[in-house]
Parts: sequence; structure tokens; C-alpha cells
Amino acid sequence: KLFFSEQFNEYNKHFPTDDFDTVTRTYNFFQKEKLKRGNSQVIDYGNIDYDVIKVDASVPNMNDYHHIVSCNQEISEKAENVLQNGQICLTLGGDHSIAIGTVDAHVKAKKDICVLWIDAHADLNTNKTSDTGNIHGMPMAILASELSDYWPYLPGMDWQKPIISLRNVAYIGLRSVDPYERMVIDKLGITAFGMADVEEYGINLVVDMALKAIDPDRSRSIHVSFDIDALDSLEAPSTMTSVRGGLTLREGVHIMEKIHDTGRLGAMDLVEVNPSLGTEQEVKKTVDAAIHVILAAFGYKRQGMRIKNASLP
Ligand code: ARG
Ligand code: MN
Ligand code: MN
Ligand code: MN
Repeated sequence: KLFFSEQFNEYNKHFPTDDFDTVTRTYNFFQKEKLKRGNSQVIDYGNIDYDVIKVDASVPNMNDYHHIVSCNQEISEKAENVLQNGQICLTLGGDHSIAIGTVDAHVKAKKDICVLWIDAHADLNTNKTSDTGNIHGMPMAILASELSDYWPYLPGMDWQKPIISLRNVAYIGLRSVDPYERMVIDKLGITAFGMADVEEYGINLVVDMALKAIDPDRSRSIHVSFDIDALDSLEAPSTMTSVRGGLTLREGVHIMEKIHDTGRLGAMDLVEVNPSLGTEQEVKKTVDAAIHVILAAFGYKRQGMRIKNASLP
């Protein structure tokens, strides 16, 4: 698993490329040359490099435990450094378990944060409730202060504390939630908007309601953890746990345009893009969707909107 993070100057625009290397399975979304056009400052921190920790103990029902623990420690340190420099930290994955490190870093750097988890899944399983043992289904539960008693001791994870209250977390895009996850959402009253809510209220109102719930004073640094499987399978096929009936790319872009407009985006993860799945065309489509979502987050506006203040309804 390879990850790399990009650092952005908050107020500048960004332009994408589709420079994409399926052979090495690393991806360079942004070419320096094109970025210059946007007058933006981008620092590529490169892939996360880590040594797998040597702990004897392993934890039941947590796949690739040693890798994920070691990688996240590295991610946390690197992302915190980016944030301490006063810049927005974009982390591209890879497995959604990387959010353990990025949210950890964000809390350490900014203290008062809220998390918008855009995903088909709630990623709220513990190792005891998970059907798969995949840690990408657990990051929110590892991060949540309310669930700390439900975990065994996690060796090699002493740097990490359950660091965020689920009162400061909102979901958008849910449509595949396991029974235990459903129970936690209901019992704790977590702000969660599934696809039926998107239909009922429309995406614009859903984003407003989500932000109102987790950032009522409009003061917090916003962390967006965007799992590409939040988008419909037709929009983003190259991802492992694709679920049909999801967000359109337009809805994904709309969410991120609104987040940009708050001026408080602190960090963003764009995860679960998997170039080893699907045809070349599907991979291209998925990466392209990811680029559009990221661009919107960093201030790129679609053209073609109506003229503001025009005498129209
Ligand atoms: N709930 C399922 C699990 O626990 C799927 C999680 C999918 N998460 C993801 N980041 N793709 O395994
Ligand atoms: Mn994964
Ligand atoms: Mn997911
Ligand atoms: Mn996820």
C-alpha cells in the first residue's frame, strides 16, 4: 500500500492531471507545471515510507495489523507537521485506515476539529464486531472517544488515543451499514445522512445540516474523509467495496465546493481508489472523479452557473 500527501496553500486554485502510473500503483495527481498556472504552492511530501514495527502480539480479527499501525504512525507525524505549517493537508490513499493517522494529526495540530465522513460505509466496527477483519471498516471506531472501552489493548498504537467525540462527526452517503454500526449510530445519535436523506432533502441542505450539527459556531477546523466508494459504482468503479445507488459525481463536487466556501477546510483524505481493480477505462474514470472532488475542495469552481443577483427566481 502506497500513500502520498500533498500540501496546499489555502487560498489558491489547483489544476489536475491524469498522470497515472498503474504499474507502480502510485499516483501523481498534480503536475507541478499545471499547478503553476493556478499560482498555487504545492509541496509533495512523497509516499509514506515506514518500517514495519516489531511487536510480538497481534490483535485478533485485524488484518495487516502491523503494517497499518506502522504506516499510521508515520502518517500522523507527517500530517501533523504539514498542519503545523498552517497549510491544508491532503492525503491520498489507499486504504481508509489511513484516516486513523490523519485525524489524529489534525486533532493534535488544531485541537477543535469536526469530521465529515463521506462514505457508503460507517467504518465504525471494532475487531469484535467486524465480519471481515478489514481495518478500513474500523477507523472511526478507533478514533472515537465514546468507543474506547470496546477495544483491547492495541500494541504499537500507544501514540494514538481515541481522540474525537462522535458528536463532532457527521456522515454523508451511507447505504451499507452493519447491524452493530447501525446500533452505535442510533444509540449515540450520530449525525448521519444516508442516500434516502440525499433524495429527500437534496445534497445542498444535507451539507448545511451536517455542518450545523458538527460545527454550530462555524469555528472548527473541518476534516473531510472522502471515501471514493461514497460515489456510485458507475462514477467510481475502481474501488474494493463499491455499492450501487450512491452519490453522483455532481453531488460529490457540490459537497466539496461548499466545504471550500466555509474557508475552514483543514485536512482532507481521498481514499480507496484502487487502480488494480477494473479495466483501464474504469481506473481512469475513478481517478478522474477523485480529481474533480479534490479540485472542488481546493477552490476550483465549475463554470456555467447563473449570474448572481440577476433578476431570476
Ligand atoms: N463494513 C464493512 C467492513 O467492516 C465494509 C467496510 C468498508 N470500508 C471501506 N473503507 N471501504 O468490512
Ligand atoms: Mn481498503
Ligand atoms: Mn466505504
Ligand atoms: Mn471508508
